[in-house]
Amino acid sequence: MNIQFTCQDALFALDNQKVENGKKDAEAALQTVLNKTGRGNDFLGWVTLPSDVTEQEIIDLETVTAHLVEKSEVVVVVGIGGSYLGARAVIEALQHSFAPYVKGKYPHILYAGNNISEDYLHDLLEVLDCKDYSVVVISKSGTTTEPALAFRILKEHCEKKYGVEAAKERIVAITDKARGALKTLADKEGYPTFVIPDDVGGRYSVLTPVGLLPIALAGFDILQLLQGARDMQKFVAEHPAYDENPVLQYALIRNLLYGNGLKVELVASFEPQLFYFIEWFKQLFGESEGKEHKGIFPAGAIFSTDLHSLGQYIQEGTRQMFETVLAIDAVHHRVNIPEDAENLDNLNYLQHRTIHEINQIARKGTCLAHVDGQVPNLCITVPEINEYHLGELIYFFEMSCAVSGYMLGVNPFDQPGVEAYKKNMFRLLGKPGV
Ligand code: PA5
Repeated sequence: MNIQFTCQDALFALDNQKVENGKKDAEAALQTVLNKTGRGNDFLGWVTLPSDVTEQEIIDLETVTAHLVEKSEVVVVVGIGGSYLGARAVIEALQHSFAPYVKGKYPHILYAGNNISEDYLHDLLEVLDCKDYSVVVISKSGTTTEPALAFRILKEHCEKKYGVEAAKERIVAITDKARGALKTLADKEGYPTFVIPDDVGGRYSVLTPVGLLPIALAGFDILQLLQGARDMQKFVAEHPAYDENPVLQYALIRNLLYGNGLKVELVASFEPQLFYFIEWFKQLFGESEGKEHKGIFPAGAIFSTDLHSLGQYIQEGTRQMFETVLAIDAVHHRVNIPEDAENLDNLNYLQHRTIHEINQIARKGTCLAHVDGQVPNLCITVPEINEYHLGELIYFFEMSCAVSGYMLGVNPFDQPGVEAYKKNMFRLLGKPGV
């Protein structure tokens, strides 16, 4: 287990006795997940996904990946929420920071179906006019309006560009095994199809084909990703005691901070490529815990960028948040700070240091300042960003979220509130039957 969790800088906001009393609750919540005895227990397929994946499933993913990679400079992943954020989180964490400007062996991954912006779709089609591309359309229900709308437009574009039959060679659907409009459409058109298991909800589905196919298409090692998750799965199952399990520690501490009136968790990273990983976190925790008028509001920040926008608020605004820093021990590259005899910028004192060392010191300085400003600080550290550690982190957060949701007393696996905007939208659009 390579993930470290520390909460020393939050102790000032915690009552020792409450921590001691809460340990048993965290341990019990974990058993509720593992024994499938809690609310939403028909959506616990993700618990054993890493170890359940079969060789045949990997072969099928690799076969489709090879086929699409050969044909495509670009792959458009169509999906929203849990049907897109996990893939994007991993791809953006691993890919070159300026991926569109770097030509590699694998297609660039673009995204659609997560907004209803006409200009966005127009611009996407303009790019696709002059690129060879494929489409992976993902929707568990197969009925979500945003991806369905984007896919209708992309399907037509693809058929016009390549011809109706050849377009079928460029479209893959990932959906329910039997239900939904996307399943009906995929069967009728004969698209290759992958199934999202019944017992895995959208935001817990990154280790199914929903995440694995796009991640493989981007050229990343899904076996390593699964191995990291599998090792974390094993660790969690073999460490049911609070004192030896950081998943339980994180779940309990954040619940105690929430109980003390800190309703916002600001997840921050000093690595911009983790922006979408934090977006994935926000969805996982926000949709799992924000119900019954309860739950921590998950927010995100990338530092130093946001230290010059949100930093003032974090330091001195309303005291309603705690901070969880996602820290990375090592980076992959070295950029030298050049010598400058004139030293007009007064930076010679940094000359023999690495950029990463300066970033780490910025992190320490920031955390100290925020703790001084009464913002309790939690820190989750991984050795580096790679497939294996991302797999560990994904499982770490999925399990923490489930345990935390049960400790909060909600069903972490449903999302009834998401329907409200849809009802209004359908009524206002005049959808038949609504
Ligand atoms: O986590 C969830 O269940 C949701 O965020 C869904 O993933 C999202 O609403 C998209 O749903 P679907 O895959 O059915 O299109």
